Amino acid sequence: MSIKKIISVASAKGGVGKSTITALLAMNFAKNFKVGILDADIYGPNQHILFNVENKKPNYIKDKDKTLMEPIESMGVKLNSMGFILDDDRAAIWRGPMLSGAIKQLMSLTIWGELDYLFIDMPPGTGDAYLTVASEVKPDHSLLVTTPNKLAIHDTLKSVSFFNKLDINLIGFIENNTSNQLFEADYESLLSKDQPCIGKILYNEDIYNLNLNKSSNLVSDISSAIQTLV
Ligand SMILES: Nc1ncnc2c1ncn2[C@@H]1O[C@H](COP(=O)(O)OP(=O)(O)OP(=O)(O)O)[C@@H](O)[C@H]1O
Ligand SMILES: [Mg+2]
Repeated sequence: MSIKKIISVASAKGGVGKSTITALLAMNFAKNFKVGILDADIYGPNQHILFNVENKKPNYIKDKDKTLMEPIESMGVKLNSMGFILDDDRAAIWRGPMLSGAIKQLMSLTIWGELDYLFIDMPPGTGDAYLTVASEVKPDHSLLVTTPNKLAIHDTLKSVSFFNKLDINLIGFIENNTSNQLFEADYESLLSKDQPCIGKILYNEDIYNLNLNKSSNLVSDISSAIQTLV
């Protein structure tokens, strides 16, 4: 098993589009690379829904004293998420797991195979999940997602100091405008912390309706920019 690059997608602010953008980027990258997603949002997993594979269950493979999982593959992306596991009574190892234990196991017990990129869909906040991902998953890079809203930018700034403390390289932020109006945003605070804007994604009806296969080309430029930054 070898994973060349691990990129987490994060924001302290909830609901700004982390999961959606993780899925869109992975679908776009999968046109040219071997790609996976680890959904690190243990209590609110979404990747199984975004990839339209909500009812699939991973295969479990006994390997000596461990039980490994085959990721679910959709649109060329290998996925693992608590969303595949929560109601599965075969998955005894998942009963009552602590948050950090769950993230650690999703990472280490999934048969990822050879991957060029593994994206990590982070939960909102700056809590325990982030500490676990930093110590157990060890992303090479992270990118931030914000909306143009002042509160979102304020919280994104908090993520910048948090990631700096965790010693994870931040490559910049993506503006996701989940409104269909154009807003002016003041990104000076982020730019002054060496966080460039990697790209902007406007409100899009296909994205809203979860037709992500139709909209993954909207992040082509952003995907190319990320490839040069990581
Ligand atoms: N560019 C967009 N155009 C239209 N709808 C969008 C766009 N980006 C995100 N959405 C919608 O906004 C909502 C929030 O997106 P998403 O769940 O990806 O955010 P999140 O940051 O992962 O949230 P959480 O903090 O709860 O994990 C979803 O309903 C999603 O479909
Ligand atoms: Mg999410």
